[in-house]
Amino acid sequence: MSAELVRRAREVQRHAYCPYSKFRVGAALETADGGVYVGTNVESASYGLTICAERMAIGAAVAGGGGTGMRALRRIVVATDVEPPASPCGACRQLLAEFGLDLEVIAVGPRTERRWVLRDLLPDAFAKTALAP
Ligand code: THU
Repeated sequence: MSAELVRRAREVQRHAYCPYSKFRVGAALETADGGVYVGTNVESASYGLTICAERMAIGAAVAGGGGTGMRALRRIVVATDVEPPASPCGACRQLLAEFGLDLEVIAVGPRTERRWVLRDLLPDAFAKTALAP
């Protein structure tokens, strides 16, 4: 249920480590088996090492045993403090695509939300073999 996912994304957003950008991101990922995994951005003085919230949530889901195989992930909420709400970056879209293009992606800001299906955010995703249509 997305109200609970929004709450979890907002909660973890508070823990963001982002002293350089000051841009807090929280992500909550629901797996097909109903598990919820969260992630937040972690920055580095070596800027390029920054980890996005979404990719951390994917890592948590996989490490927690809830996120392996196609269609393992059901939806992700990405919480930021901007309007319009920020959508996942290209690298995160590609890693999410690993688990299927039917993922529902919900971006929430202070006032509004935006929703997509991953296949619309990442047309022609890279794959060594064609992903299921
Ligand atoms: N960031 C995310 O966490 N997710 C995205 O999809 C894009 C950007 C983070 C990285 C960095 O810490 C901050 O937002 C500003 O780019």
